[in-house]
Amino acid sequence: MLDQERMPRHVAIIMDGNGRWAKKRGMPRKFGHREGAKTFRAITRHAKALGIQYITYYAFSTENWKRPKDEVDAIMDLFEKYLDEVRDFIEENIRVRFIGDRTRLSENLQRKMASVEEDSKNFDSMTLVLAINYGGRDEICHAAKTLAQQVKEGKLEPEDITMDMIERNLYTEEIPPVDLVIRPSGEQRLSNFMIWQAAYAEFYYTNILWPDFKGSDLDKAVIAYSERNRRFGGV
Ligand code: FPP
Repeated sequence: MLDQERMPRHVAIIMDGNGRWAKKRGMPRKFGHREGAKTFRAITRHAKALGIQYITYYAFSTENWKRPKDEVDAIMDLFEKYLDEVRDFIEENIRVRFIGDRTRLSENLQRKMASVEEDSKNFDSMTLVLAINYGGRDEICHAAKTLAQQVKEGKLEPEDITMDMIERNLYTEEIPPVDLVIRPSGEQRLSNFMIWQAAYAEFYYTNILWPDFKGSDLDKAVIAYSERNRRFGGV
């Protein structure tokens, strides 16, 4: 049984292991991403059923451009396809948001992202956040530039800059801090994912590859979280 009182409000998932899943089957890496995208859809519905309010997925990092063009193109094609499917989520009262630097994405993708965000902005059963061309350091650098510009224009004094101001200039704006980070596939690192927002997050690792990750694995992660004692630097 899941204790609603001790549920994480914001769960962030690093969808890792797609490439290895495909390799194990002798298939090109992009097949792993295709399966991973199916898992993304199933887990989002499961998270909503559990009552999780915010779920963020690391879909593409600022470093992922280094991958072969064929693989990057396949991932971008999947985004396009799923952005159309994400419209189904809208019907389920799910608000969709994107974080990351959009300027490097195709104009068509940017247009679709803006329209999904606009059409779902008033929904409140859950917020689904997709990190695309996202990097935590890039995000903090972007916030620093915005505040520096305000200082330059004489609208802000450097000594008046607060953590709250930095937070409000991150891509996540009004999205609450991350409570639980889940990383499948056996890796145990944050990889530049929500480094500000996950400062006090609990971590959950599993050896399961992302395409094999099931609703029952999310349940296990949430149960493990509910049994932890978060102290936020206190005693
Ligand atoms: C990490 O696995 C996965 C990615 C870099 C891409 C994730 C993208 C998707 C699941 C596609 C679509 C997403 C949505 C939201 C529609 P990896 O390739 O690093 O795996 P490996 O560590 O086994 O090589």
